[in-house]
Amino acid sequence: MQLIYPNKQPEQQILAESEQIGAMTLDEHLPLLIAGDNFDALSILLNSGYCERIDLIYIDPPYNTQQVFTVSEGRTNTISRTGSGTVAYADDLAMADYLEFMRKRLVLMRELLSPCGSIYVHIDSKVGHYLKIIMDEVFGADNFKNDITRVKSNPKNFARRAFGNEKDMVLFYAKNAKKNIFNNITTPLTDEDKTEMFQKVDKQGRRYNTVPVHAPGETQNGETGSLWRGMLPPKGRHWRSPPSELDKLDELGLLEWSKNGVPRIKKFADEHKGKKIQDIWRYKDPAHPIYPTEKNSDMLEMIVAQSSNQNSIVLDCFAGSGTTLWAAQNLHRRWIGIDSSPVAVQAIQERLGLLPYQLAKIS
Ligand SMILES: C[S@@+](CC[C@H](N)C(=O)[O-])C[C@H]1O[C@@H](n2cnc3c(N)ncnc32)[C@H](O)[C@@H]1O
Repeated sequence: MQLIYPNKQPEQQILAESEQIGAMTLDEHLPLLIAGDNFDALSILLNSGYCERIDLIYIDPPYNTQQVFTVSEGRTNTISRTGSGTVAYADDLAMADYLEFMRKRLVLMRELLSPCGSIYVHIDSKVGHYLKIIMDEVFGADNFKNDITRVKSNPKNFARRAFGNEKDMVLFYAKNAKKNIFNNITTPLTDEDKTEMFQKVDKQGRRYNTVPVHAPGETQNGETGSLWRGMLPPKGRHWRSPPSELDKLDELGLLEWSKNGVPRIKKFADEHKGKKIQDIWRYKDPAHPIYPTEKNSDMLEMIVAQSSNQNSIVLDCFAGSGTTLWAAQNLHRRWIGIDSSPVAVQAIQERLGLLPYQLAKIS
């Protein structure tokens, strides 16, 4: 599946153009913030030894809104899309130029991603579906992981001939769908979840529910298919634990026996490991941002925790105020940030307290 639009370059041409940009001596002691256009910066990284070394990329690029984003002087909490103020960045390319701008950079990002790497592209639904096809082209449809719906605001009541818009989307791909780092980060159960999922309460006041002592699938020769207390597991099922462990559970009072002599295993709410995170996220952006379109830092911390490890390098090449870089730093990851806007570079320097040698200017 390919998207057709005017002036689409062959991939080899993009990679050849990138090679022409050449290398640079970069301080190996990350973090590193590169001030400049990200096609050049990504090329420099590729040509300077970072090929296949990045475990996680999160980007929140311009959304082709046809707007200019500004920051009002002296009032960092007042951010307007138009009118006066210092221009943070302009988002005004024609649609085909925008798609090619994104595709060229995505090709370079793919080259930088490690074999266990992941990329998250935060975008809205006006351009997101075109980018989905481009991502399939660049990363391979088999490496698609999720199209995440991010609920970004409260319901809106704008007078328009359409439904209110309270979501945007995050496209999540792996470099290699079978190898991507995924740490199975969970979210804790709410009190409501606990009441709903664990309806029984024991003598100590602990909430619990029960599950059968057997699970689907037959064991051919193993212990979990053998006789326990004169019973065999029902047809098509096996014991959840070997008989000796079921005995131990019973001794510890962790089996509940029905009047008819059917045992079930007790599971306690306070021992629950948390809920798997699904593909609808509720993370509202800050009410008083330091930069236009600044993203929710809890969301970035979750992404960094989920798809990178402590020795990983995390990259955001549309860094803005550096929310991704902040999350990476908090979680003790190494990071590389790139942004062409002097306003963004200053915001990142202030937010993360960078030392002069951690900033490389390429334009
Ligand atoms: C939507 S903002 C990112 C906001 C960021 N996620 C945050 O939480 O603050 C997009 C950023 O991309 C930067 N940008 C746009 N085109 C770029 C380019 N060609 N090279 C580098 N940065 C670029 C803009 O300057 C802007 O800071």
